[in-house]
Amino acid sequence: MSMNTVRQDYKIVRADREKRHGHRSFLLWFTGLSGSGKSTLANLVEVALYQKGISTFSLDGDNIRQGINKDLSFAPEDRTENIRRIAEISNLMVNAGVVTLAAFVSPYHKDRENIKNIVGEDNFFEIYVNTSLEECERRDVKGLYKKARAGEIKNMTGISAPYEVPMHPDLEIVTDHQSIEASVQTILDFIIPKLKESI
Ligand code: ADX
Repeated sequence: MSMNTVRQDYKIVRADREKRHGHRSFLLWFTGLSGSGKSTLANLVEVALYQKGISTFSLDGDNIRQGINKDLSFAPEDRTENIRRIAEISNLMVNAGVVTLAAFVSPYHKDRENIKNIVGEDNFFEIYVNTSLEECERRDVKGLYKKARAGEIKNMTGISAPYEVPMHPDLEIVTDHQSIEASVQTILDFIIPKLKESI
């Protein structure tokens, strides 16, 4: 609810901040199954951007769910709220002139669409980290798939909860037979020209 509130204008706006940073700001949204490599790729892309002097910030599902979103479960309505809050935080970061990298399973199409409403379509790039369930389960870095198969975790994406594959991602990274370095390079090749667009 936002009753009795009036939007205030700021004197310093996003364009001022982008000028100061010397590059455009936007949101890079990594979606995919748990264990697909979203966080790994987002981290390495952030390191490469940071080394080029780009102002960046990372938001990651596992971390955010230990802080601001620790009240949320993996039930569908809580995932929706998780993504909505992250989109609002991302919007603030983008307005701060920062290239924001968000890595969330974000399994529902409608939730990912809603991010565009919050941050603006032009500021949002969806990167689908397409790693097969078989491969994620084989890696099982956090041991969650094993627990889900044993019935110890409910609503596990890919096992007992859906993952709705993005229909028109801005970029799709098929990781099963590709090195991490090659995936990072593909993402950088996609982003770097966009940093210089219209500031
Ligand atoms: S989202 O679906 O709401 O976008 P989010 O990205 O925040 O999920 O959190 C996913 C992370 O939480 C996974 O990487 C995994 O480590 C952990 N996790 C714990 N339980 C589940 C579950 N039931 N389904 C998916 N991920 C889970």
